[in-house]
Amino acid sequence: MQDPAGPGRSDRPPWWQSAVICQVYPLSFQDSDGDGRGDLPGLLSRLDYLCELGIDAIWLAPVYCSPMRDFGYDVADFTGIEPCFGSLGDFDRLVQALHERGMRLVLDFVPNHTADTHPWFVASRSSRNHPQRDWYVWADAGPDGGPPNRWTSRFGGSAWEYDAGTGQYYYHAFLKEQPDLNWHNPEVRQAMAEVLRFWQARGVDGFRIDAAAVLAEDVKLREDPPKPDADGQTPEPERVERVYTDYRPEVLDWLAELRRCAEADGPSLLLGEVDGSGDRIVDFYGDAGRPILHLPLNYRLIDTDWQGPLLRETVEHYLTLLDALGPEPGTAGARQGGPGKPKGWPCWAVGSHDKPRVARTLGPERARLAALLLFTLPGTALFFAGDELGLEGCPVPSEQSRDPFERQLPGFGLNRDPQRAPMPWSDAPQAGFTTGEPWLPLEPGHEQRHVARQQRDPASMWSLYRRLIALRKAEAALGVGSCFGFFTADALLGFQRAWAGRRLQVVVNLAGTPQVHRPDDGRPARLLLSTRPDPEAPGSSEGIRLEGYEGVVLVLD
Ligand code: GLC
Repeated sequence: MQDPAGPGRSDRPPWWQSAVICQVYPLSFQDSDGDGRGDLPGLLSRLDYLCELGIDAIWLAPVYCSPMRDFGYDVADFTGIEPCFGSLGDFDRLVQALHERGMRLVLDFVPNHTADTHPWFVASRSSRNHPQRDWYVWADAGPDGGPPNRWTSRFGGSAWEYDAGTGQYYYHAFLKEQPDLNWHNPEVRQAMAEVLRFWQARGVDGFRIDAAAVLAEDVKLREDPPKPDADGQTPEPERVERVYTDYRPEVLDWLAELRRCAEADGPSLLLGEVDGSGDRIVDFYGDAGRPILHLPLNYRLIDTDWQGPLLRETVEHYLTLLDALGPEPGTAGARQGGPGKPKGWPCWAVGSHDKPRVARTLGPERARLAALLLFTLPGTALFFAGDELGLEGCPVPSEQSRDPFERQLPGFGLNRDPQRAPMPWSDAPQAGFTTGEPWLPLEPGHEQRHVARQQRDPASMWSLYRRLIALRKAEAALGVGSCFGFFTADALLGFQRAWAGRRLQVVVNLAGTPQVHRPDDGRPARLLLSTRPDPEAPGSSEGIRLEGYEGVVLVLD
Protein backbone atom coordinates (compact mmCIF):
# COMPACT_ATOMS: atom_id res chain seq x y z
CA MET A 1 0.00 0.00 0.00
CA GLN A 2 1.23 3.49 -0.87
CA ASP A 3 2.10 5.57 2.14
CA PRO A 4 -0.08 8.67 1.85
CA ALA A 5 3.03 10.68 2.78
CA GLY A 6 4.64 9.45 -0.41
CA PRO A 7 8.14 8.10 -0.83
CA GLY A 8 11.03 9.84 0.87
CA ARG A 9 9.05 11.08 3.87
CA SER A 10 10.95 8.91 6.32
CA ASP A 11 10.70 11.63 9.00
CA ARG A 12 7.07 10.69 9.56
CA PRO A 13 6.50 8.07 12.25
CA PRO A 14 5.65 4.72 10.67
CA TRP A 15 1.91 4.10 10.24
CA TRP A 16 1.71 1.35 12.82
CA GLN A 17 2.94 3.41 15.78
CA SER A 18 -0.33 5.24 16.34
CA ALA A 19 -2.39 2.49 14.73
CA VAL A 20 -5.38 0.63 16.08
CA ILE A 21 -5.20 -3.02 15.06
CA CYS A 22 -8.18 -5.33 15.35
CA GLN A 23 -7.58 -9.07 15.44
CA VAL A 24 -10.13 -10.95 13.38
CA TYR A 25 -10.67 -14.65 14.02
CA PRO A 26 -12.11 -15.49 10.62
CA LEU A 27 -14.05 -18.59 11.72
CA SER A 28 -16.13 -16.45 14.06
CA PHE A 29 -16.47 -13.14 12.25
CA GLN A 30 -18.98 -13.55 9.42
CA ASP A 31 -20.18 -16.57 7.49
CA SER A 32 -21.25 -16.05 3.88
CA ASP A 33 -22.26 -19.53 2.75
CA GLY A 34 -24.32 -20.95 5.60
CA ASP A 35 -21.82 -23.60 6.74
CA GLY A 36 -21.72 -22.02 10.21
CA ARG A 37 -18.08 -20.98 9.88
CA GLY A 38 -16.88 -17.50 9.08
CA ASP A 39 -15.02 -16.99 5.82
CA LEU A 40 -13.21 -14.44 3.66
CA PRO A 41 -16.24 -13.30 1.63
CA GLY A 42 -18.03 -12.82 4.99
CA LEU A 43 -15.15 -10.71 6.29
CA LEU A 44 -15.13 -8.71 3.04
CA SER A 45 -18.78 -7.90 3.52
CA ARG A 46 -18.00 -6.43 6.95
CA LEU A 47 -15.06 -4.20 6.11
CA ASP A 48 -17.19 -1.07 6.25
CA TYR A 49 -17.98 -1.95 9.85
CA LEU A 50 -14.27 -2.00 10.72
CA CYS A 51 -13.72 1.17 8.75
CA GLU A 52 -16.50 2.97 10.58
CA LEU A 53 -14.95 2.01 13.87
CA GLY A 54 -11.69 3.63 12.75
CA ILE A 55 -9.49 0.53 12.50
CA ASP A 56 -6.12 0.99 10.75
CA ALA A 57 -5.28 -2.66 10.22
CA ILE A 58 -6.60 -6.11 10.84
CA TRP A 59 -4.54 -9.01 12.07
CA LEU A 60 -6.11 -12.00 10.42
CA ALA A 61 -5.75 -15.36 12.20
CA PRO A 62 -4.74 -18.22 9.86
CA VAL A 63 -6.77 -18.99 6.76
CA TYR A 64 -4.22 -21.41 5.25
CA CYS A 65 -5.07 -24.94 4.18
CA SER A 66 -5.48 -26.88 7.38
CA PRO A 67 -7.03 -30.04 8.82
CA MET A 68 -8.31 -27.66 11.55
CA ARG A 69 -7.16 -29.67 14.56
CA ASP A 70 -6.07 -26.35 16.05
CA PHE A 71 -8.44 -24.28 13.93
CA GLY A 72 -5.92 -23.14 11.37
CA TYR A 73 -2.75 -23.07 13.47
CA ASP A 74 -1.99 -26.50 11.99
CA VAL A 75 -1.00 -25.57 8.47
CA ALA A 76 -1.01 -28.09 5.63
CA ASP A 77 -0.06 -25.59 2.92
CA PHE A 78 1.42 -22.20 3.77
CA THR A 79 0.54 -20.69 0.42
CA GLY A 80 -2.99 -22.01 -0.05
CA ILE A 81 -6.33 -20.97 1.43
CA GLU A 82 -8.46 -23.53 3.25
CA PRO A 83 -11.60 -23.98 1.13
CA CYS A 84 -13.92 -23.35 4.09
CA PHE A 85 -12.51 -19.80 4.15
CA GLY A 86 -12.67 -19.22 0.39
CA SER A 87 -9.98 -18.97 -2.26
CA LEU A 88 -6.80 -17.08 -3.07
CA GLY A 89 -8.99 -14.86 -5.24
CA ASP A 90 -11.05 -13.98 -2.15
CA PHE A 91 -7.84 -13.25 -0.30
CA ASP A 92 -6.64 -10.92 -3.06
CA ARG A 93 -10.02 -9.18 -3.03
CA LEU A 94 -9.70 -8.74 0.72
CA VAL A 95 -6.28 -7.10 0.43
CA GLN A 96 -7.51 -4.81 -2.30
CA ALA A 97 -10.69 -3.86 -0.47
CA LEU A 98 -8.76 -3.12 2.73
CA HIS A 99 -6.28 -0.95 0.87
CA GLU A 100 -9.05 0.91 -0.92
CA ARG A 101 -10.38 1.83 2.50
CA GLY A 102 -6.98 2.91 3.78
CA MET A 103 -6.64 -0.16 6.01
CA ARG A 104 -3.86 -2.71 6.12
CA LEU A 105 -3.55 -6.45 6.52
CA VAL A 106 -1.33 -8.19 9.05
CA LEU A 107 -1.36 -11.91 8.43
CA ASP A 108 -0.79 -14.62 11.03
CA PHE A 109 2.38 -16.50 10.14
CA VAL A 110 2.95 -19.88 11.78
CA PRO A 111 6.65 -20.77 11.48
CA ASN A 112 7.11 -23.11 14.45
CA HIS A 113 5.20 -26.12 13.20
CA THR A 114 3.10 -27.54 10.39
CA ALA A 115 0.17 -29.92 10.30
CA ASP A 116 1.20 -33.56 10.19
CA THR A 117 -0.50 -33.66 6.79
CA HIS A 118 1.85 -31.02 5.34
CA PRO A 119 3.81 -32.51 2.40
CA TRP A 120 7.07 -31.53 4.15
CA PHE A 121 6.21 -33.70 7.12
CA VAL A 122 4.85 -36.51 4.99
CA ALA A 123 8.21 -36.50 3.17
CA SER A 124 10.19 -36.16 6.40
CA ARG A 125 8.56 -39.14 8.05
CA SER A 126 8.71 -41.30 4.92
CA SER A 127 12.29 -42.43 5.58
CA ARG A 128 15.28 -41.63 7.77
CA ASN A 129 17.19 -40.98 4.57
CA HIS A 130 14.77 -38.59 2.96
CA PRO A 131 16.45 -35.23 2.20
CA GLN A 132 13.71 -33.51 4.23
CA ARG A 133 14.11 -35.79 7.25
CA ASP A 134 15.99 -33.06 9.08
CA TRP A 135 13.26 -30.45 8.43
CA TYR A 136 11.59 -31.67 11.63
CA VAL A 137 12.96 -32.50 15.08
CA TRP A 138 13.64 -36.25 15.27
CA ALA A 139 15.31 -38.18 18.09
CA ASP A 140 15.93 -41.75 19.15
CA ALA A 141 14.12 -43.33 22.08
CA GLY A 142 15.47 -42.61 25.56
CA PRO A 143 17.49 -45.18 27.53
CA ASP A 144 14.29 -46.78 28.88
CA GLY A 145 12.94 -47.25 25.35
CA GLY A 146 10.37 -44.47 25.83
CA PRO A 147 10.41 -40.85 24.61
CA PRO A 148 13.85 -39.20 24.24
CA ASN A 149 13.29 -37.07 27.36
CA ARG A 150 10.52 -35.67 29.59
CA TRP A 151 9.74 -32.51 27.62
CA THR A 152 6.03 -31.74 27.72
CA SER A 153 3.78 -30.36 25.04
CA ARG A 154 2.14 -27.00 25.81
CA PHE A 155 -1.15 -28.78 25.20
CA GLY A 156 -0.34 -31.56 27.70
CA GLY A 157 1.39 -34.95 27.61
CA SER A 158 4.77 -35.80 26.20
CA ALA A 159 6.11 -33.49 23.52
CA TRP A 160 7.39 -36.56 21.64
CA GLU A 161 5.39 -38.81 19.36
CA TYR A 162 6.66 -42.17 18.19
CA ASP A 163 6.75 -42.80 14.47
CA ALA A 164 6.59 -46.57 13.99
CA GLY A 165 7.52 -46.33 10.28
CA THR A 166 11.00 -44.97 10.97
CA GLY A 167 11.47 -45.98 14.61
CA GLN A 168 12.14 -42.47 15.96
CA TYR A 169 10.24 -39.79 17.87
CA TYR A 170 9.33 -36.35 16.55
CA TYR A 171 8.94 -33.27 18.71
CA HIS A 172 5.75 -31.22 18.92
CA ALA A 173 5.48 -28.14 21.14
CA PHE A 174 1.69 -28.24 20.70
CA LEU A 175 -0.52 -31.08 19.40
CA LYS A 176 0.99 -34.30 18.11
CA GLU A 177 -0.66 -33.35 14.82
CA GLN A 178 1.53 -30.19 14.83
CA PRO A 179 5.12 -31.44 14.40
CA ASP A 180 7.78 -28.77 15.02
CA LEU A 181 9.91 -27.61 12.16
CA ASN A 182 13.65 -27.81 12.76
CA TRP A 183 14.72 -24.17 12.57
CA HIS A 184 18.36 -25.13 13.01
CA ASN A 185 18.16 -26.31 9.42
CA PRO A 186 18.88 -23.40 7.03
CA GLU A 187 16.65 -24.97 4.36
CA VAL A 188 13.69 -24.63 6.71
CA ARG A 189 14.50 -21.01 7.38
CA GLN A 190 14.83 -20.40 3.67
CA ALA A 191 11.50 -22.12 2.94
CA MET A 192 9.69 -20.04 5.57
CA ALA A 193 11.26 -16.84 4.25
CA GLU A 194 9.82 -17.74 0.85
CA VAL A 195 6.40 -18.06 2.45
CA LEU A 196 6.77 -14.49 3.76
CA ARG A 197 7.70 -13.26 0.32
CA PHE A 198 4.76 -15.07 -1.26
CA TRP A 199 2.28 -13.16 0.88
CA GLN A 200 4.13 -9.88 0.61
CA ALA A 201 3.89 -10.16 -3.15
CA ARG A 202 0.11 -10.42 -2.68
CA GLY A 203 0.12 -7.12 -0.83
CA VAL A 204 0.18 -8.15 2.81
CA ASP A 205 1.46 -5.30 5.03
CA GLY A 206 2.83 -7.29 7.94
CA PHE A 207 2.83 -10.53 9.88
CA ARG A 208 2.02 -11.69 13.37
CA ILE A 209 4.56 -14.40 14.09
CA ASP A 210 2.87 -17.22 15.97
CA ALA A 211 4.76 -18.84 18.85
CA ALA A 212 7.80 -16.74 17.93
CA ALA A 213 9.81 -17.54 21.04
CA VAL A 214 9.33 -21.27 20.72
CA LEU A 215 11.19 -21.90 17.46
CA ALA A 216 14.19 -23.67 19.01
CA GLU A 217 14.77 -26.46 21.49
CA ASP A 218 18.01 -27.43 23.12
CA VAL A 219 19.95 -29.65 20.74
CA LYS A 220 21.33 -31.64 23.69
CA LEU A 221 17.74 -32.37 24.80
CA ARG A 222 18.44 -31.27 28.39
CA GLU A 223 15.50 -31.54 30.78
CA ASP A 224 13.45 -28.50 31.75
CA PRO A 225 13.71 -28.14 35.55
CA PRO A 226 10.53 -28.33 37.65
CA LYS A 227 8.98 -25.06 38.85
CA PRO A 228 9.37 -24.92 42.63
CA ASP A 229 5.90 -23.45 43.24
CA ALA A 230 3.95 -25.76 40.90
CA ASP A 231 1.39 -28.12 42.42
CA GLY A 232 -1.60 -30.22 41.42
CA GLN A 233 -3.55 -27.07 40.56
CA THR A 234 -0.93 -26.11 37.99
CA PRO A 235 -1.67 -27.44 34.50
CA GLU A 236 0.98 -30.04 33.66
CA PRO A 237 2.70 -28.05 30.87
CA GLU A 238 3.27 -25.17 33.30
CA ARG A 239 4.94 -27.29 35.97
CA VAL A 240 8.39 -26.82 34.41
CA GLU A 241 10.60 -23.81 33.74
CA ARG A 242 10.98 -23.85 30.01
CA VAL A 243 14.70 -23.27 30.02
CA TYR A 244 15.41 -25.64 27.15
CA THR A 245 12.18 -25.50 25.16
CA ASP A 246 11.47 -21.76 25.04
CA TYR A 247 13.34 -18.56 24.32
CA ARG A 248 16.60 -20.16 23.20
CA PRO A 249 19.12 -17.48 22.20
CA GLU A 250 19.31 -18.62 18.58
CA VAL A 251 15.62 -17.74 18.16
CA LEU A 252 16.51 -14.05 18.24
CA ASP A 253 18.95 -14.52 15.34
CA TRP A 254 16.36 -16.36 13.29
CA LEU A 255 13.70 -13.73 13.94
CA ALA A 256 16.20 -11.02 12.98
CA GLU A 257 16.76 -12.95 9.73
CA LEU A 258 12.99 -12.92 9.14
CA ARG A 259 12.94 -9.18 9.78
CA ARG A 260 15.63 -8.61 7.16
CA CYS A 261 13.70 -10.74 4.74
CA ALA A 262 10.39 -9.02 5.55
CA GLU A 263 11.92 -5.62 4.90
CA ALA A 264 13.91 -6.51 1.81
CA ASP A 265 11.18 -5.32 -0.55
CA GLY A 266 9.86 -2.41 1.48
CA PRO A 267 8.43 -1.92 4.93
CA SER A 268 6.54 -4.74 6.55
CA LEU A 269 5.34 -4.84 10.13
CA LEU A 270 6.35 -7.75 12.35
CA LEU A 271 4.29 -8.47 15.46
CA GLY A 272 5.26 -11.48 17.49
CA GLU A 273 3.77 -13.77 20.07
CA VAL A 274 6.44 -14.00 22.76
CA ASP A 275 6.48 -14.51 26.49
CA GLY A 276 5.51 -10.96 27.24
CA SER A 277 5.29 -11.22 31.00
CA GLY A 278 8.92 -10.70 32.00
CA ASP A 279 11.63 -8.16 31.27
CA ARG A 280 13.02 -10.19 28.41
CA ILE A 281 10.21 -8.92 26.19
CA VAL A 282 12.64 -6.12 25.42
CA ASP A 283 15.12 -8.55 23.81
CA PHE A 284 12.63 -9.26 21.06
CA TYR A 285 12.98 -5.73 19.72
CA GLY A 286 16.68 -6.23 19.05
CA ASP A 287 18.60 -3.02 18.44
CA ALA A 288 19.55 -0.67 15.62
CA GLY A 289 22.29 -3.03 14.43
CA ARG A 290 20.05 -6.09 14.57
CA PRO A 291 16.37 -5.13 14.64
CA ILE A 292 14.03 -8.03 15.40
CA LEU A 293 10.28 -7.53 15.95
CA HIS A 294 8.57 -4.16 15.64
CA LEU A 295 6.00 -5.15 18.24
CA PRO A 296 6.42 -8.10 20.60
CA LEU A 297 2.83 -8.48 21.78
CA ASN A 298 2.08 -7.26 25.29
CA TYR A 299 -1.03 -8.38 27.18
CA ARG A 300 -0.06 -6.95 30.57
CA LEU A 301 -3.17 -4.80 30.81
CA ILE A 302 -5.32 -7.90 31.11
CA ASP A 303 -2.80 -10.20 32.79
CA THR A 304 -2.33 -7.87 35.76
CA ASP A 305 -4.22 -7.52 38.98
CA TRP A 306 -6.22 -4.30 38.69
CA GLN A 307 -5.22 -2.79 42.02
CA GLY A 308 -4.21 0.87 41.57
CA PRO A 309 -0.55 0.74 42.63
CA LEU A 310 0.00 -2.65 41.01
CA LEU A 311 -1.55 -1.60 37.73
CA ARG A 312 0.49 1.57 37.75
CA GLU A 313 3.66 -0.38 38.52
CA THR A 314 2.90 -2.79 35.65
CA VAL A 315 2.34 -0.04 33.12
CA GLU A 316 5.23 2.13 34.25
CA HIS A 317 7.61 -0.80 34.47
CA TYR A 318 6.87 -1.86 30.90
CA LEU A 319 7.25 1.69 29.56
CA THR A 320 10.47 2.12 31.52
CA LEU A 321 11.86 -1.11 30.09
CA LEU A 322 11.31 0.31 26.63
CA ASP A 323 12.58 3.75 27.56
CA ALA A 324 9.23 5.09 26.46
CA LEU A 325 8.51 7.41 29.38
CA GLY A 326 8.89 11.17 29.48
CA PRO A 327 10.24 13.69 29.23
CA GLU A 328 7.73 16.11 30.64
CA PRO A 329 7.58 19.20 28.43
CA GLY A 330 9.33 22.18 29.91
CA THR A 331 11.68 20.09 32.05
CA ALA A 332 15.37 19.65 31.55
CA GLY A 333 16.08 17.17 28.81
CA ALA A 334 12.72 17.65 27.14
CA ARG A 335 12.94 17.69 23.37
CA GLN A 336 10.59 20.20 21.93
CA GLY A 337 7.35 18.42 21.11
CA GLY A 338 8.85 14.96 20.84
CA PRO A 339 8.73 11.80 22.92
CA GLY A 340 12.41 10.99 22.60
CA LYS A 341 13.39 7.74 20.94
CA PRO A 342 12.20 4.70 22.84
CA LYS A 343 14.24 1.49 22.83
CA GLY A 344 11.25 -0.24 21.38
CA TRP A 345 7.80 0.99 20.46
CA PRO A 346 5.23 -0.08 23.08
CA CYS A 347 2.07 -1.95 22.26
CA TRP A 348 -0.97 -2.91 24.29
CA ALA A 349 -3.44 -5.67 23.57
CA VAL A 350 -6.60 -6.36 25.54
CA GLY A 351 -7.76 -9.54 23.87
CA SER A 352 -6.99 -12.43 21.56
CA HIS A 353 -8.39 -15.76 20.48
CA ASP A 354 -6.28 -17.36 23.24
CA LYS A 355 -7.28 -15.14 26.18
CA PRO A 356 -10.51 -14.92 28.16
CA ARG A 357 -12.44 -11.81 27.10
CA VAL A 358 -11.39 -8.62 28.83
CA ALA A 359 -14.99 -7.95 29.87
CA ARG A 360 -15.06 -11.38 31.54
CA THR A 361 -11.72 -10.96 33.30
CA LEU A 362 -12.25 -7.41 34.52
CA GLY A 363 -16.04 -7.12 34.49
CA PRO A 364 -18.00 -4.81 32.18
CA GLU A 365 -17.26 -1.57 34.00
CA ARG A 366 -13.53 -1.98 34.27
CA ALA A 367 -13.47 -3.21 30.65
CA ARG A 368 -14.50 0.35 29.72
CA LEU A 369 -11.51 1.65 31.65
CA ALA A 370 -9.27 -0.89 29.92
CA ALA A 371 -10.49 0.53 26.59
CA LEU A 372 -9.62 4.03 27.74
CA LEU A 373 -6.11 2.95 28.77
CA LEU A 374 -5.66 0.93 25.59
CA PHE A 375 -6.24 3.93 23.36
CA THR A 376 -4.52 6.57 25.48
CA LEU A 377 -1.33 4.87 26.70
CA PRO A 378 1.65 5.36 24.40
CA GLY A 379 1.96 2.58 21.85
CA THR A 380 0.12 0.61 19.22
CA ALA A 381 -3.34 -0.54 20.35
CA LEU A 382 -4.69 -4.02 19.63
CA PHE A 383 -8.00 -5.60 20.49
CA PHE A 384 -9.85 -8.74 19.53
CA ALA A 385 -12.97 -8.29 17.38
CA GLY A 386 -15.90 -8.42 19.77
CA ASP A 387 -14.08 -6.61 22.59
CA GLU A 388 -15.62 -3.43 21.17
CA LEU A 389 -19.03 -4.97 21.97
CA GLY A 390 -18.03 -5.87 25.51
CA LEU A 391 -18.47 -9.55 24.68
CA GLU A 392 -17.76 -11.77 27.67
CA GLY A 393 -17.49 -15.15 25.97
CA CYS A 394 -19.83 -18.08 25.72
CA PRO A 395 -19.42 -20.75 28.40
CA VAL A 396 -18.85 -24.12 26.69
CA PRO A 397 -18.75 -27.19 28.95
CA SER A 398 -15.58 -29.25 28.76
CA GLU A 399 -17.36 -32.27 27.26
CA GLN A 400 -18.64 -30.14 24.37
CA SER A 401 -15.44 -28.19 23.89
CA ARG A 402 -14.01 -27.85 20.39
CA ASP A 403 -10.72 -26.45 21.65
CA PRO A 404 -8.02 -29.15 21.73
CA PHE A 405 -6.31 -27.34 24.62
CA GLU A 406 -9.38 -27.87 26.83
CA ARG A 407 -9.95 -31.38 25.57
CA GLN A 408 -6.41 -32.41 26.48
CA LEU A 409 -6.27 -30.53 29.77
CA PRO A 410 -9.84 -30.34 31.04
CA GLY A 411 -10.71 -28.63 34.29
CA PHE A 412 -8.01 -25.95 34.47
CA GLY A 413 -10.13 -23.21 32.94
CA LEU A 414 -8.05 -23.22 29.76
CA ASN A 415 -10.93 -23.52 27.29
CA ARG A 416 -10.53 -20.99 24.46
CA ASP A 417 -13.95 -21.67 22.92
CA PRO A 418 -15.70 -18.93 24.95
CA GLN A 419 -13.81 -16.03 23.37
CA ARG A 420 -14.17 -17.61 19.93
CA ALA A 421 -17.99 -17.41 19.99
CA PRO A 422 -19.35 -15.86 16.77
CA MET A 423 -19.81 -12.10 16.38
CA PRO A 424 -23.41 -11.03 16.99
CA TRP A 425 -24.35 -8.55 14.26
CA SER A 426 -28.09 -8.02 14.56
CA ASP A 427 -31.36 -9.50 15.77
CA ALA A 428 -31.58 -11.69 12.66
CA PRO A 429 -31.54 -15.48 13.24
CA GLN A 430 -28.14 -16.56 14.59
CA ALA A 431 -27.44 -12.88 15.19
CA GLY A 432 -26.76 -12.41 11.48
CA PHE A 433 -23.53 -14.41 11.74
CA THR A 434 -24.71 -17.35 9.63
CA THR A 435 -27.82 -18.77 8.06
CA GLY A 436 -26.72 -22.23 9.23
CA GLU A 437 -25.69 -23.71 12.54
CA PRO A 438 -22.80 -21.68 14.06
CA TRP A 439 -19.65 -23.71 14.67
CA LEU A 440 -19.68 -22.47 18.29
CA PRO A 441 -22.71 -21.21 20.19
CA LEU A 442 -23.45 -17.50 20.23
CA GLU A 443 -22.84 -16.00 23.62
CA PRO A 444 -25.83 -15.60 25.92
CA GLY A 445 -27.19 -12.07 25.96
CA HIS A 446 -26.14 -11.41 22.36
CA GLU A 447 -29.64 -9.99 21.79
CA GLN A 448 -28.60 -7.05 23.98
CA ARG A 449 -25.07 -6.76 22.70
CA HIS A 450 -25.26 -7.13 18.95
CA VAL A 451 -23.65 -4.58 16.67
CA ALA A 452 -26.81 -3.02 15.28
CA ARG A 453 -28.14 -2.33 18.75
CA GLN A 454 -24.90 -0.91 20.10
CA GLN A 455 -24.44 1.34 17.11
CA ARG A 456 -27.71 3.05 18.00
CA ASP A 457 -26.82 3.47 21.67
CA PRO A 458 -24.45 6.32 22.62
CA ALA A 459 -23.87 4.60 25.98
CA SER A 460 -22.71 1.32 24.45
CA MET A 461 -19.23 -0.12 24.54
CA TRP A 462 -19.14 0.14 20.74
CA SER A 463 -19.84 3.88 20.94
CA LEU A 464 -17.10 4.25 23.54
CA TYR A 465 -14.59 2.43 21.32
CA ARG A 466 -15.56 4.62 18.41
CA ARG A 467 -15.20 7.83 20.42
CA LEU A 468 -11.86 6.73 21.83
CA ILE A 469 -10.43 5.75 18.46
CA ALA A 470 -11.61 9.04 16.95
CA LEU A 471 -10.01 10.97 19.82
CA ARG A 472 -6.76 9.08 19.41
CA LYS A 473 -6.70 10.05 15.75
CA ALA A 474 -7.57 13.67 16.45
CA GLU A 475 -4.99 14.13 19.21
CA ALA A 476 -1.38 13.65 18.19
CA ALA A 477 -0.53 13.68 21.92
CA LEU A 478 -2.29 10.31 22.20
CA GLY A 479 -0.86 8.85 19.01
CA VAL A 480 2.78 9.82 19.26
CA GLY A 481 3.14 12.20 22.22
CA SER A 482 5.35 11.76 25.25
CA CYS A 483 4.01 10.09 28.38
CA PHE A 484 4.86 11.11 31.92
CA GLY A 485 3.36 12.12 35.25
CA PHE A 486 1.98 8.79 36.46
CA PHE A 487 0.18 9.02 39.77
CA THR A 488 -2.08 6.98 42.01
CA ALA A 489 -4.23 8.57 44.71
CA ASP A 490 -6.82 6.50 46.53
CA ALA A 491 -8.54 4.61 43.72
CA LEU A 492 -7.39 6.98 41.00
CA LEU A 493 -4.68 6.24 38.48
CA GLY A 494 -3.53 8.82 35.97
CA PHE A 495 -0.83 9.96 33.58
CA GLN A 496 -0.22 12.67 31.04
CA ARG A 497 0.46 12.81 27.33
CA ALA A 498 1.84 15.81 25.47
CA TRP A 499 2.69 16.88 21.98
CA ALA A 500 3.60 20.25 20.53
CA GLY A 501 2.39 22.27 23.48
CA ARG A 502 -0.85 20.35 23.96
CA ARG A 503 -1.10 18.51 27.27
CA LEU A 504 -3.68 15.85 28.12
CA GLN A 505 -4.28 14.01 31.36
CA VAL A 506 -5.91 10.60 31.57
CA VAL A 507 -7.47 9.64 34.90
CA VAL A 508 -9.36 6.45 35.76
CA ASN A 509 -11.33 5.68 38.88
CA LEU A 510 -10.72 2.02 39.70
CA ALA A 511 -13.35 1.99 42.46
CA GLY A 512 -17.12 1.68 42.29
CA THR A 513 -17.56 4.81 44.41
CA PRO A 514 -17.03 8.44 43.32
CA GLN A 515 -13.58 9.99 43.76
CA VAL A 516 -12.33 13.54 43.41
CA HIS A 517 -9.27 14.28 41.34
CA ARG A 518 -7.32 17.45 42.12
CA PRO A 519 -4.69 18.18 39.48
CA ASP A 520 -1.74 18.81 41.81
CA ASP A 521 -0.25 21.75 40.02
CA GLY A 522 -3.67 23.39 40.07
CA ARG A 523 -3.89 23.66 36.29
CA PRO A 524 -7.35 24.30 34.95
CA ALA A 525 -8.69 21.17 33.27
CA ARG A 526 -11.35 20.72 30.61
CA LEU A 527 -13.13 17.46 29.92
CA LEU A 528 -12.38 16.02 26.50
CA LEU A 529 -13.86 12.54 26.90
CA SER A 530 -15.47 10.46 29.60
CA THR A 531 -16.19 6.74 29.60
CA ARG A 532 -19.67 7.77 30.76
CA PRO A 533 -22.03 8.89 28.04
CA ASP A 534 -23.45 11.71 30.20
CA PRO A 535 -20.56 13.10 32.22
CA GLU A 536 -20.93 15.84 34.77
CA ALA A 537 -19.25 19.11 33.85
CA PRO A 538 -16.14 18.37 35.88
CA GLY A 539 -14.18 21.57 36.34
CA SER A 540 -14.39 23.35 39.64
CA SER A 541 -11.91 24.68 42.17
CA GLU A 542 -12.80 21.68 44.33
CA GLY A 543 -11.40 19.32 41.76
CA ILE A 544 -12.92 16.91 39.29
CA ARG A 545 -15.46 14.36 40.41
CA LEU A 546 -15.22 10.96 38.78
CA GLU A 547 -18.14 8.59 39.25
CA GLY A 548 -17.50 4.95 40.14
CA TYR A 549 -15.46 3.29 37.38
CA GLU A 550 -15.38 6.46 35.33
CA GLY A 551 -12.36 7.36 33.26
CA VAL A 552 -11.68 10.72 31.68
CA VAL A 553 -9.36 12.47 29.29
CA LEU A 554 -8.75 16.08 30.30
CA VAL A 555 -7.02 18.93 28.52
CA LEU A 556 -4.69 20.78 30.86
CA ASP A 557 -4.54 24.39 29.80
C1 GLC B 1 -0.34 -19.81 19.22
C2 GLC B 1 -1.76 -19.50 18.83
C3 GLC B 1 -2.67 -20.53 19.42
C4 GLC B 1 -2.27 -21.89 18.90
C5 GLC B 1 -0.79 -22.16 19.17
C6 GLC B 1 -0.30 -23.36 18.43
O1 GLC B 1 -0.16 -19.73 20.58
O2 GLC B 1 -2.08 -18.20 19.22
O3 GLC B 1 -4.02 -20.29 19.13
O4 GLC B 1 -3.04 -22.87 19.51
O5 GLC B 1 0.01 -21.07 18.73
O6 GLC B 1 -0.21 -23.07 17.08
